[in-house]
Amino acid sequence: MAPSTRTLAAAALLILSQTLPSSAAGTVDVCLQIQDAISSASAVYFPGDLLGNYAADLSHWASSSSQLAACSVEPGTADDVAAIIKILGSTNTSFAVKGGGHTANPGFSSTTGVQITMTRFSGVTYDAASETATIGTGLVWDSVYEALEPFGVNVVGGRVSGVGVAGFTLGGGYSWKTNQFGLTVDSVTEFQLVKPNGDIVTVTPTSEPDLFFGLTGGGNNFGIVTQFTLKTHPQGQVWGGLILYTEDQLPAVSDAIAAFANNVTDPKAAIIPAINFLLGAQTRVSHLMFYDGPTPPSGIFDDFLAIPALLTDVSTRSFLSLVQAAPSNVTTGDRGFFHTVSLVEYTPNIISAIINETKFWGSALTLAGATFISYDIEPFLPTLYTHGAPGVTTAYPPSRTTPGAIPLNLYFAWALPTSDSIIHDALVASAQQLTSVAQGEGQDLSELGLYTNYALYDTPLERIYGANLPRLRQIKASVDPEGVMGLAGGWKF
Ligand SMILES: Cc1cc2nc3c(=O)[nH]c(=O)nc-3n(C[C@H](O)[C@H](O)[C@H](O)COP(=O)(O)OP(=O)(O)OC[C@H]3O[C@@H](n4cnc5c(N)ncnc54)[C@H](O)[C@@H]3O)c2cc1C
Ligand SMILES: *[C@@H]1O[C@H](CO)[C@@H](O)[C@H](O)[C@H]1NC(C)=O
Ligand SMILES: *[C@@H]1O[C@H](CO)[C@@H](O)[C@H](O)[C@H]1NC(C)=O
Ligand SMILES: *[C@@H]1O[C@H](CO)[C@@H](O)[C@H](O)[C@H]1NC(C)=O
Ligand SMILES: *[C@@H]1O[C@H](CO)[C@@H](O)[C@H](O)[C@H]1NC(C)=O
Repeated sequence: MAPSTRTLAAAALLILSQTLPSSAAGTVDVCLQIQDAISSASAVYFPGDLLGNYAADLSHWASSSSQLAACSVEPGTADDVAAIIKILGSTNTSFAVKGGGHTANPGFSSTTGVQITMTRFSGVTYDAASETATIGTGLVWDSVYEALEPFGVNVVGGRVSGVGVAGFTLGGGYSWKTNQFGLTVDSVTEFQLVKPNGDIVTVTPTSEPDLFFGLTGGGNNFGIVTQFTLKTHPQGQVWGGLILYTEDQLPAVSDAIAAFANNVTDPKAAIIPAINFLLGAQTRVSHLMFYDGPTPPSGIFDDFLAIPALLTDVSTRSFLSLVQAAPSNVTTGDRGFFHTVSLVEYTPNIISAIINETKFWGSALTLAGATFISYDIEPFLPTLYTHGAPGVTTAYPPSRTTPGAIPLNLYFAWALPTSDSIIHDALVASAQQLTSVAQGEGQDLSELGLYTNYALYDTPLERIYGANLPRLRQIKASVDPEGVMGLAGGWKF
């Protein structure tokens, strides 16, 4: 490190140590230790960094998922990740690991300690011989699709723009291609992992079966992942995009959703109708459609196309273009929580209860400053969990029986921290109401795990990992006996 940087950092430490609580000053000292230990491929940034690296490293899709860290670190090599994790463990320093920063759970990838941001792990390489792609954990899916497009191949990844590959994959991963190939965890062939003790290991189902099991849904419990190797599939032009419907079309739209969810069995077809309530506005449906081919067979999407729309952006296009057609940043800067219900099926009755919830909470939360209330209906085929590699079990989902758990994503956005607990309680109440409606019509939800990446932050681990939890706890205890990863937030085994 250049002496001038060292002098500046020391000055920053001096100032901070006089103005911050002693624990924060201690953390700045840990930042300086890290700065001394890492190679020139990596960097540490402090508050006030004029080039904006510190701010970018801390930023999240939902502002409630960000905190002010003592410093941010961008590791550039696995060796540097190992050096960093050893310092954090030996000094017992709180930290966070951020991929694409899209978690809607506070503290899951943010900290007041040391913010590790993985952006420098940005490689995408395609190996035609093994039909796999190796991707860095600092990427967003858009970049992965863009890099693979020239090879005419694709991976099972995110459905809308800007989502990180890391948290998505380590939590499960529902994709446009899930009906054909399963979750993203079903496509992983290899993880590169820096363990809590600093060992760098390649994790495959045969080299490290326990760790492989843990990483396929178990989040950040087992260390810091630097890259994934994923199976690829041929990818040509796709069809689909976005349609916006106004409130007067809700009856026709809900009929079309029910018909699709109950009757369409083509695994190349998928939809995400989001029932939205925008502050001061009416209810709207933001409807995404996907077909894995240049032209869908007639019949599948005809009902949707026949309904008068406010906006239609549907065409034959590249996979990346379809992913970027979705409006994923309308609430950028707002606070945001997700929650979820796992269903056996989307019946007409459930769809109408979801629409009722959207309207009910849209108006009930107006005083609490809610800016956006959204229920994303995600119909998948009942066979969605039958595509895993033979003999390989994963941490998520906890059960792979057919029919499998079909997720519903609740998303509420608002402006002021003073409403956090009101929004939390509303999400819990709404998920409970929809659970009761499903149970009331005879759906057995008792064995269905809730999705790791949608479940609200205080969801009991048993509801997510079910019968897998004891094994996950055992693996965690053997890989991380000192509890280093417990210094970072997330679902903790
Ligand atoms: C607009 C939007 C669209 C979405 N669409 C989908 C969808 O289609 N399908 C779906 O399944 N999910 C979807 N999600 C949910 C998404 O999977 C989660 O938000 C996920 O956490 C995003 O990953 P990330 O890397 O961006 O998150 P981050 O906030 O960066 O990380 C999430 C968690 O992963 C951990 N983590 C990150 N990097 C590493 C690493 N290198 N090693 C170890 N742990 C790490 C973090 O510590 C944290 O606990 C969506 C979310 C949003 C906001
Ligand atoms: C480590 O820090 C946590 C708080 O972050 C504290 O609860 C724990 O006791 C500390 N452990 C040690 C060994 O100092
Ligand atoms: C599914 O198709 C059948 C036969 O065409 C039809 O009777 C039924 O109403 C459809 N289901 C839904 C929910 O629309
Ligand atoms: C959302 O993303 C689009 C496309 O990248 C961009 O043009 C637009 O300005 C963004 N909107 C916000 C609110 O960030
Ligand atoms: C609409 O939702 C509210 C809140 O969950 C609930 O109290 C009410 O019974 C619902 N109404 C109908 C008709 O389902």
